[in-house]
Amino acid sequence: MEIITDIPALRARLQRESAIAFVPTMGNLHEGHLSLVRLAQKKADCVVASIFVNRLQFAPSEDFDQYPRTLADDCKLLQNQGVNVVFAPDEKGIYPEPQEFLLEPPPLANTLEGEFRPGFFRGVMTVVLKLFNIVQPQVTVFGKKDYQQLQLVRAMVRQLNLPLEIIAGETARASDGLALSSRNRYLGSEERAEAVRLHRVLSEIKHAVGAGNRNFLQLCKNAHENLASHGWEVDYIALQQRDTLAPAGVDDPDLVVLAAARLGKTRLIDNLEVSAGA
Ligand code: PAJ
Repeated sequence: MEIITDIPALRARLQRESAIAFVPTMGNLHEGHLSLVRLAQKKADCVVASIFVNRLQFAPSEDFDQYPRTLADDCKLLQNQGVNVVFAPDEKGIYPEPQEFLLEPPPLANTLEGEFRPGFFRGVMTVVLKLFNIVQPQVTVFGKKDYQQLQLVRAMVRQLNLPLEIIAGETARASDGLALSSRNRYLGSEERAEAVRLHRVLSEIKHAVGAGNRNFLQLCKNAHENLASHGWEVDYIALQQRDTLAPAGVDDPDLVVLAAARLGKTRLIDNLEVSAGA
């Protein structure tokens, strides 16, 4: 496995590759990231993973400085998984001058996560487009854990005609159901035990809707109250159409329930795809 930090060296190394599958990350890797790598390996002989904590997608009040940086451990995991190239640029490599061209995402980016993290998706989409241009992969893999990010990347690839196939990876979870996340390490032990409730309330909604319940607002309200009564500060919990992430209509068959909530200082997000039952 090669670890490459600068763009010219990366381009030179990748020139001889005819098919590249690319997994962008911010590092502090866990089984969820590795499951995306395994999907990438099915699609191309050369798998490139990037590790870059992108300042542009963090608000000044957010955890950019605190975000865990574990490059040596990450590289060991990627090497064991058989990744070919790790691209781990520094900030000057990606942003050698102030990034004044920014990718303006569609209105979807101002809802759900975007409502609570203004500018977040502008930062994400800008760096993802830059990374696509640097790596020039044929295939890229994104996790459903960040469902809105996945759908926005799909829309960008469609609307900007990027010659790129997108593969979506299922959310990897701990045995109790908590979605794996780099931010889980911020949780104290009591919080870690409580954190599973987020997945539990989403599962309850999934099963209720699967069993034919169409009272979406009430279901989300109940879940909100359940979380709030156990010390969570809920940003949103919403049942949406899977592709557009518009609010679910009673006749939509393919839905997703998405939530974001804070437990202590830690903000967690999760979602589950839901199939409306009769
Ligand atoms: P990061 O949070 O490191 O996530 C990198 C990729 O791993 C994303 O596609 C994310 O959806 C996926 N992922 C995270 N947790 C997962 C889990 N438990 N199971 C499966 N996949 C999981 O998302 C980002 O970084 C950044 O926004 C990035 C796209 C790299 C742009 O900076």
